[in-house]
Amino acid sequence: MSGIVRRANENDIEGILKLLVQVDMVHHNGRPDIFKGPATKYNAVELKKIVEDDTTPVFVYQDEDGTVAGHAFCVHKQVVGDSVLTDIRTLYIDDICVDEKHRGKRVGSRLFEEVKDYAQKNGFYNITLNVWSCNPGAKEFYEKLGLVPQKIGMEMLLER
Ligand SMILES: CC(C)(COP(=O)(O)OP(=O)(O)OC[C@H]1O[C@@H](n2cnc3c(N)ncnc32)[C@H](O)[C@@H]1OP(=O)(O)O)[C@@H](O)C(=O)NCCC(=O)NCCS
Repeated sequence: MSGIVRRANENDIEGILKLLVQVDMVHHNGRPDIFKGPATKYNAVELKKIVEDDTTPVFVYQDEDGTVAGHAFCVHKQVVGDSVLTDIRTLYIDDICVDEKHRGKRVGSRLFEEVKDYAQKNGFYNITLNVWSCNPGAKEFYEKLGLVPQKIGMEMLLER
């Protein structure tokens, strides 16, 4: 796999929007009762603010042709002075996606390594993310990278 991983900028927004639809469709296909599809969780205006904000760094994988073919959205998180929670600084991965055509070629691993490197260099305590149970492939991917469950979201669908 050639190509580079780098911080995203305004010029990447079009490519990121296409990837956001792909993530949404994975979730929509798995849980159409919860996720609308096709949709993007952020629009172009919101994305411009996100990529420019150093507390919400986005990393992209740019392939050899210059196309944005993967992204990892990060969010700096810290709860200060809470009655039960400590003040640890967490880097939360809000979204990660590799273009369908590039999957299985370690692009996702490379994006995660970049995020981990960033978290380590910036003194974060841990990296967290959420994964939907309707997306077992992503869960397996995270486990391969060495992530372990921190908490589990549970539900009961009610009869109607
Ligand atoms: C999940 C995703 C980011 C993985 O990216 P990728 O570039 O294909 O993953 P990699 O090639 O770096 O794979 C790393 C390891 O994870 C494993 N893995 C990756 N995707 C997997 C899948 N769907 N099922 C099982 N294992 C998987 C690989 O086999 C590899 O294992 P190995 O180290 O034993 O060889 C990508 O499939 C994707 O974008 N999916 C759609 C969007 C999505 O679900 N995002 C996550 C939302 S929570």
